[in-house]
Amino acid sequence: PGDVDPGAGYGYPGELAATLIAENALQEKIRALAAAVAADHDSEQPPLLVCVLKGAVMFVTDFARAMPIPCELEFMAVSSYGSATSSSGVVRILKDLDRDITGRRVVIVEDIIDSGLTLSWLLKNLASRGPAAIDVVALLRKPEAVKVEVEVRYIGFDIPTDFVVGYGLDFAERYRDLPFVGLLGEHMYR
Ligand code: XMP
Ligand code: MG
Repeated sequence: PGDVDPGAGYGYPGELAATLIAENALQEKIRALAAAVAADHDSEQPPLLVCVLKGAVMFVTDFARAMPIPCELEFMAVSSYGSATSSSGVVRILKDLDRDITGRRVVIVEDIIDSGLTLSWLLKNLASRGPAAIDVVALLRKPEAVKVEVEVRYIGFDIPTDFVVGYGLDFAERYRDLPFVGLLGEHMYR
C-alpha cells in the first residue's frame, strides 16, 4: 500500500519502479551512522564533514543534525567524466574546499559508491593536504565497489546494481528532492 507508485505524490507519476529505502529506514540508519562516527571522535577534535555535492546534500544535513557531538561542514563538488549512469575515474574539481584541512580529522560524506573510482581519487586528493585522519561515510554502496580498494569505514546500505534516485541522487538533475531512495523505472533511461 502506498508503494503502487512511490513518485506520484511528489510530481513524478509513473517514473519510479519501486521504493528501495523508505524515509523512516533512511532516518533510522542515519542516526545509527551518526552515533558510530561520533563514538570514534570527541569534542576536542570535532570532525570536519566534507560533503560531496550534490548527491550527498540531503544525507549530510540529516547526518550532521543526528550527530551527538559538534561537527563542522565543508562542501566539495567534483565531476567525473563518463556517461550519465557510470563514471570513468577521471575527476575534475568544480568547487574546492574553502579552507585548509591540515591536522583536521576529516570525514568524507558520500551519497553512493558505485565503482569507487570517484572516491578513490578524492581520498588521494584530500590525503595530500595533510589531514590528521580521513574516514568515509557512505549512505549507499553497490556491489561493484568491492572491485576498487577503497576503505569505507561507515556504510549505510548495500544495494543492488540498479540505478537509484532520490534523497539527493539524480537522473539528469531530477528526483533529488524525494525523501526516499527509489528505483528508477527502466523506461526512463533505456
Ligand atoms: P563511482 O563509480 O566513481 O561513482 O563510485 C560514484 C558516483 O556515481 C554516481 N552514481 C549514481 N547516481 N544513482 C545516482 O543517482 C545511482 O544509482 C548511481 N550510481 C552511481 C553518483 O554521482 C556517485 O557519486
Ligand atoms: Mg549524479
